[in-house]
Amino acid sequence: MDRASDESIRILIVDDNTQNLHILGTIFKKENYNVHIAKNGVQAIRIAENVRPDIILLDVMMPEMNGFEACKRLKENTITQDIPIIFITAMTDAESIIKGFATGAVDYVTKPFNTVELTARVKTHLELTRSRKEMKKLTLMQEQMLIQQSKMATMGEMIALIAHQWRQPLHAISLFVHDLKDAFNFGELNKEYIELSAKRIGDQIHYMSDTIEDFRNFFTPGKEKITFGVNTAIRKTLSLVNKQLKKSGIKVSLYCNYETVAKKHPEDYLPEVCICEPDIPVIGHPNEFKQTVLNILNNSRDAIEERIKKGLLKNNEKGEVTIVLSKKNNIILIEINDNGGGIPDNAIDNIFDPYFTTKEYGGTGIGLYISKIIIERNMKGKLYAKNQDNGVCFSIELPICT
Ligand SMILES: Nc1ncnc2c1ncn2[C@@H]1O[C@H](COP(=O)(O)OP(=O)(O)OP(=O)(O)O)[C@@H](O)[C@H]1O
Ligand SMILES: [Mg+2]
Repeated sequence: MDRASDESIRILIVDDNTQNLHILGTIFKKENYNVHIAKNGVQAIRIAENVRPDIILLDVMMPEMNGFEACKRLKENTITQDIPIIFITAMTDAESIIKGFATGAVDYVTKPFNTVELTARVKTHLELTRSRKEMKKLTLMQEQMLIQQSKMATMGEMIALIAHQWRQPLHAISLFVHDLKDAFNFGELNKEYIELSAKRIGDQIHYMSDTIEDFRNFFTPGKEKITFGVNTAIRKTLSLVNKQLKKSGIKVSLYCNYETVAKKHPEDYLPEVCICEPDIPVIGHPNEFKQTVLNILNNSRDAIEERIKKGLLKNNEKGEVTIVLSKKNNIILIEINDNGGGIPDNAIDNIFDPYFTTKEYGGTGIGLYISKIIIERNMKGKLYAKNQDNGVCFSIELPICT
């Protein structure tokens, strides 16, 4: 569309000389422009604010406020700053021309001017301004789209993570329900049994609801981190998975090297029956930390189960996970060892990559990726793995809170 012939184009002509106003007004009325006039800088600013012209032709020498000052103020004003301004003046010296551009004008035309040239220049600047505005709009739209896309990606990731964290408790709940049915069939179901099962199922549900809250925090950081005890958090995690690990024939041991050595069967890790060694305080979101331990334990369980399935456990060898806590200076080191056969050499460098999995069924490959972010970004610690003996040792290092 030829904007110059569009009637809606508003031009503001500013000159203290009535004859000049008349000449310029006639030129642009002929072009079908909507012509507004002002006789000095003060008037020009007021009219520009009200009318919002598409372009301003500005004389320099005027009473009250000269053109340079008016131009400067129009460019400082957020309402008028995007309007292109062309100086039309008898001042032809280089200094004035430079000053004109320095105050923010897009063009400088000297009198006497050529009508055809002037209208051509006006049209060019109108077109340039229109293109610039469209580019700005496009960039804004692109930015909005990117924000939206990244929001969707985040949501997708969040759903994937929740699904990942829920698989474990859902499996546990289904086991408890089956267990209840079996207990009923074998006549073992009494009040105590039901209460214990209800509590175990309740714990899992509680954990599931915490997971959603955690991921909300994870993706919208800002919620205050707190100081919590590493030992308690590990024991609570064990209490969530002990039943499953036991069912898979896996024995878990927990050693605290810095205190009395404790070696317990998974059943003992139920939080209400365990009396912990002095807890080691660290800073973070406790549930995020528990998720990390859970991810590592689940991986060990998968690896050991696979090894059992393939008949690779030697005579008398049992599935085993050993957790060792030790302190070095102001770091707490948590080592989680298993005898699941270790990570294949061609996979060890990639296990922390998002979506990297070697599991044929059910692996999403985000367990360790998210664990690394939790430990290293959110808790300022370190998470790494190395193969040893018949399995893997995952190490978590965390700064002790003093
Ligand atoms: N204890 C382990 N023993 C052997 N291999 C392991 C062990 N832990 C992790 N891995 C390897 O690291 C890969 C990535 O683990 P990660 O927890 O990130 O994903 P996943 O377990 O495959 O899937 P997801 O946890 O999302 O269900 C696993 O597929 C496996 O190959
Ligand atoms: Mg995993």
